[in-house]
Amino acid sequence: STTYEHIIVSTPKPGVGLVTFNRPKALNALCSPLIVELNGALKDLDSSKEIGAIVITGSERAFAAGADIKEMKDLTFSAAYGTDFIEMWSDLTVRVKKPIIAAVNGYALGGGCELAMMADILYCSTGTTFGQPEIKLGTIPGAGGSQRLTKAIGKSRAMELILTGNNFSGKQAAEWGLAAKAFETPDECLNGAISTAEKIASYSKIAVKAGKEVVNKSQDQGIKEGVDFERRVFHSLFGSKDQKIGMTAFATKTKPEWSHE
Ligand code: CAA
Repeated sequence: STTYEHIIVSTPKPGVGLVTFNRPKALNALCSPLIVELNGALKDLDSSKEIGAIVITGSERAFAAGADIKEMKDLTFSAAYGTDFIEMWSDLTVRVKKPIIAAVNGYALGGGCELAMMADILYCSTGTTFGQPEIKLGTIPGAGGSQRLTKAIGKSRAMELILTGNNFSGKQAAEWGLAAKAFETPDECLNGAISTAEKIASYSKIAVKAGKEVVNKSQDQGIKEGVDFERRVFHSLFGSKDQKIGMTAFATKTKPEWSHE
């Protein structure tokens, strides 16, 4: 089997593939190599005859603290646009045909929150910390957050969260319907995700595939166009001074002085 640097792939129960993000020192910040590995692992699990459902998770401390700020802080507009930065991780639920359950504990910020929202079923614990803090870095969500959060919890709440950068809890996520369930503890969350995956894996693979496809159809109306548009505006912000100021301030642990340019 393949060995990875930033993720761990295992089979905790028959029929269940588990992908655990493993970049503890960076709170599972989603650097490009991690996303390449994640895509590869999901593709393998999707084509495996034994696997019926997939769980993705991080650690108790962090599902993922976002896209890797240090990796992208010096990105230019032309490089972001030219490589279609983030495109390769913005539609994993569309590419993967088997159900993906995210077991989300600790920090799920920025791209981490967006990755969680791409999953077919989102489980969290009451203490999970969700948020779209990109505004504090002089930018906006770039992996579908503005579209999926708004669709899930409504425009007014999503607008407030994205424009303030305020966090919200796993308890709130479940109350608002963003998460299917908020468990008391991270352990219960992961075990709950694995047992739901095990149940799904016990059914007809063809029926499960059809079920995922039709439910996702309801989400697709407008989402794809919205995510593509969001990504272009996100790219254009790499041409602003404030994106450089915001991300450099994070990397150097200083307070950003906005230029408003
Ligand atoms: N990118 C790169 N490195 C990150 C990171 C990120 N998103 N988040 C955390 N890290 C690193 C920190 O820089 C730190 O590294 P060093 O030890 O080398 O200094 C290490 O992980 C541990 O983090 P902290 O010391 O900051 O831990 P903390 O407990 O004090 O704070 C936190 C935790 C509140 C999550 C804080 O790390 C934080 O605010 N992280 C950034 C969150 C964020 O802004 N995410 C959005 C990213 S932008 C994005 O995702 C764009 C998009 O839409 C695609």
